Amino acid sequence: MKEIGIYVHIPFCKRKCYYCDFVSYDNKYEKIDSYVETVKKEIEDTSNEFTKNHIVSTIYFGGGTPSFLESKYIKLLLENIRRNFNISSNAEITLEVNPGTITEEKLKTYQMCGINRLSIGLQTTNDNLLKKIGRIHTYSEFLSTYNLARKLGFSNINVDLIFSLPDESLDDLKLDLEKIIELSPEHISTYSLIVENGTKIKELIEENADGYNLPSEDIERQMYWYIKNTLEEKGYRHYEISNFAKEGYESKHNLNCWNQKEYFGFGAAAHSFIDGIRFSNKKILSEYIFNFKSRDIEEKMNREELAKEYMMLGLRKIDGVSISEFERKFNLNPLLYFRFEISKLTDEDLIEVDLDDIKLTKKGLDFANIVWEEFI
Ligand SMILES: C[S@@+](CC[C@H](N)C(=O)[O-])C[C@H]1O[C@@H](n2cnc3c(N)ncnc32)[C@H](O)[C@@H]1O
Ligand code: SF4
Repeated sequence: MKEIGIYVHIPFCKRKCYYCDFVSYDNKYEKIDSYVETVKKEIEDTSNEFTKNHIVSTIYFGGGTPSFLESKYIKLLLENIRRNFNISSNAEITLEVNPGTITEEKLKTYQMCGINRLSIGLQTTNDNLLKKIGRIHTYSEFLSTYNLARKLGFSNINVDLIFSLPDESLDDLKLDLEKIIELSPEHISTYSLIVENGTKIKELIEENADGYNLPSEDIERQMYWYIKNTLEEKGYRHYEISNFAKEGYESKHNLNCWNQKEYFGFGAAAHSFIDGIRFSNKKILSEYIFNFKSRDIEEKMNREELAKEYMMLGLRKIDGVSISEFERKFNLNPLLYFRFEISKLTDEDLIEVDLDDIKLTKKGLDFANIVWEEFI
């Protein structure tokens, strides 16, 4: 049976972080009950002959903050997914956790219903910085969550970090890494801060508020390379531009996205990619609850679009795009099909062809956006 993934979006947070533009609400708690009911309906509605002929190898609860909900809701959603889909016995089932929202009862329920991977948003170990970016927790609260999860037996944990935060120094970042490496999580995601339009952090930076100066581009790149070199030295494999994992702990859910595998997304703003069609649900909570069947975008992609997207997604991975995989999937040789793009990018030393792989060079890691843009 062909494998597919499932993503469930939980668009609620205790408070909005200053940098975040994900679809999440911190003032619509009265909607949680009807939201979960709607997601259940959407799952049931999707179940058909197609889903019966597929097996789900990954389930991902993302947000927003899935751990903000009472755990009974996550249990209900998972039970509903199990009733309507074939779930592989070794499926990777991830839930995103914000340390300021966790109790022992919640973690125990997650475990009981089969969640076997936690992704904890820490961002930085520095309490001043945490406060400055509007996080609801301290480093010590993160530690309590992390240690409790370990004590209860969670053996696959990711920690999210953001670097290049306002007024963050290279030494601050070094301390972050030292503390995290000591904890030895199986997976570490490290994102360079993106200052998104409409966020509070953008306002603070633009009005030159005290303590909101961004590190220079040069420092930002020094941070990136320090993270890469240090984590690799400590046994983490750099497998995607922002992701590091111990051997065998690469996120299957993320890899499936970068390998253009099919998945269903349930909930407000969730995207799906099924049978060459990408579609996304309504972002506005009330619109989604009113009619979950009304989609924002629905497009059947042609072979050229799919091939370009496959390159763009594949070039996020450090191993890059496998030429033989590409040939199997599209019946085309990517070196011929994309000869202009590939020769331009290799001339600029941004990508290289290494045996069966087309991948980013060292320089390409610093200018990955330029590479991806070639395939848009
Ligand atoms: C949906 S959130 C994770 C779970 C949970 N909501 C939390 O924040 O703890 C996904 C991750 O994206 C990253 N992220 C969000 N906005 C970002 C931004 N503007 N720049 C860089 N990273 C960002 C953070 O590391 C965050 O943990
Ligand atoms: S970073 Fe996470 S907790 Fe913060 S607002 Fe965004 S989704 Fe919510």
